[in-house]
Amino acid sequence: MNLKKLTSNDIEKMSYNELIGLVKETNRIPGGSQTIAYISAMSGLQPGKKVLDIGTSTGNTAIELANLSGANIVGIDINENSLEEARKRAISCNLDKLLSFQLDNAMQLSLADKTFDVVVCGNVTSLLSDRKKALSEYKRVLKDTGFLVAVPMYYIKKPSKQLIRDVSKAIQVDIKPLYKDFWKQFFTEDEFDIFIEKDFAFDQLSEEQVDKFCDYILSRKHLQNLSPEAAITLRRVYREYMQLFRYNLAHMGYTVMLLRKKNPDMDPELFTAHPI
Ligand SMILES: C[S@@+](CC[C@H](N)C(=O)[O-])C[C@H]1O[C@@H](n2cnc3c(N)ncnc32)[C@H](O)[C@@H]1O
Repeated sequence: MNLKKLTSNDIEKMSYNELIGLVKETNRIPGGSQTIAYISAMSGLQPGKKVLDIGTSTGNTAIELANLSGANIVGIDINENSLEEARKRAISCNLDKLLSFQLDNAMQLSLADKTFDVVVCGNVTSLLSDRKKALSEYKRVLKDTGFLVAVPMYYIKKPSKQLIRDVSKAIQVDIKPLYKDFWKQFFTEDEFDIFIEKDFAFDQLSEEQVDKFCDYILSRKHLQNLSPEAAITLRRVYREYMQLFRYNLAHMGYTVMLLRKKNPDMDPELFTAHPI
């Protein structure tokens, strides 16, 4: 993309996804590095294990998991530009021998049956048109003893109708407010049992914290090629999105779920417990 030729109007028309591509913001799994460290430890990743990262984007989860564990990671996404960036980042971290990034669709994976010890689907499933098909694909490529790791986000405080309208418009997905029960049922009704789950609430951030982050992102060298008018529009539009997401995430939480294929030979657990 020739940034010098980009007009205010072009920026105004960009979707949020196009905008984060332009500013090169890193797309992360909910909870970021805390979630990644938890996944690595809880699923027992180590050299020789094979992991699939669904909707890898620019590879943040895949690269961090390879770095923490020495496991072999395949990242897939439908966006070739993001995959190209992921490959560059893997090389610059000197982890490219453990990582490969390929174009593939979560709802129709081109990978062989029972290949992976761990399949990480983050929060991607919520974005897909046929979630059940995707879940059966995750199951197909997972070894029988493997773990599916899902990190679904959901509302823990009821959002207003206006907030749902604003977020739907921003991410160009008609969102329906979902709660934890929905996701627990979705993942466990046919295919999987929960092995371990941990709930989190997003931190309440101030407007100033978000503004400071925007200033950091927008000061990137490549963005200095924008015309002064385009730079002003970008600043306004990007901040509006980020302040909207700050307000939205203040209503939300997520669960890190490790799931295993249902095993008819194993009794269900009865005397479960919770942290006190
Ligand atoms: C919010 S980011 C994911 C961030 C993080 N990896 C996670 O799992 O939460 C969503 C990514 O999913 C990708 N994606 C959307 N539909 C997909 C599909 N059908 N198959 C694979 N990737 C898809 C998008 O291109 C984008 O890079």
